[in-house]
Amino acid sequence: MTSSVQVRPAEPGDRSAIHAIHVAAFGQEAEAELVERLERDGDLILSLVACTERPVGHIAFSRLNVVEMPSIRACALAPLAVDPHAQKQGIGAALVADSLRRLSQSGWDLALVLGDPAYYGRFGFAPEAARAFETPYDGPYLQALPLSDRGKEARGPIAYAPAFAELS
Ligand SMILES: CC(C)(COP(=O)(O)OP(=O)(O)OC[C@H]1O[C@@H](n2cnc3c(N)ncnc32)[C@H](O)[C@@H]1OP(=O)(O)O)[C@@H](O)C(=O)NCCC(=O)NCCS
Repeated sequence: MTSSVQVRPAEPGDRSAIHAIHVAAFGQEAEAELVERLERDGDLILSLVACTERPVGHIAFSRLNVVEMPSIRACALAPLAVDPHAQKQGIGAALVADSLRRLSQSGWDLALVLGDPAYYGRFGFAPEAARAFETPYDGPYLQALPLSDRGKEARGPIAYAPAFAELS
């Protein structure tokens, strides 16, 4: 990663920059709107920006409900985006690594992500670990990463935040 990138918690003043990053990276509004709905609903548990002179990357995590094991603190990584002009410089990796460190330190047990295993595997996410769960996204792209011993024991149905039901 370029040494001039700083990863920090998102602030209210970052909202329009975060929206623009997701639209530029995904080429559509859906992911930007997902972030906004998660925030409005109070389901966003971690939101970080990566900044050079301005925010160029954003990562969001939202609450998950492990239905039969409600004491498990589980979250979903989504969405992650880096401005196309700033990609392939390690900024996405810095956002994921910093987030996972913060989540572990604050007692989260489990993270799930839906994405390419070739990208997320480098952070420890694995499709095999996700097979213990039943979610609307089951399949080869769903990956899990236990963040604690309790997270390793988690299993069963998982409910995503309501905002995900609006994603097409
Ligand atoms: C995915 C994304 C966040 C990566 O950000 P980044 O800052 O470019 O990532 P890094 O620099 O840390 O890593 C780049 C590496 O990831 C790889 N990569 C990027 N997107 C990938 C994908 N979808 N699947 C597999 N590998 C991917 C690159 O080829 C590159 O590989 P290399 O390290 O072997 O050269 C960015 O490409 C992006 O915003 N993409 C559009 C939105 C998106 O698809 N988000 C993820 C949804 S799950």
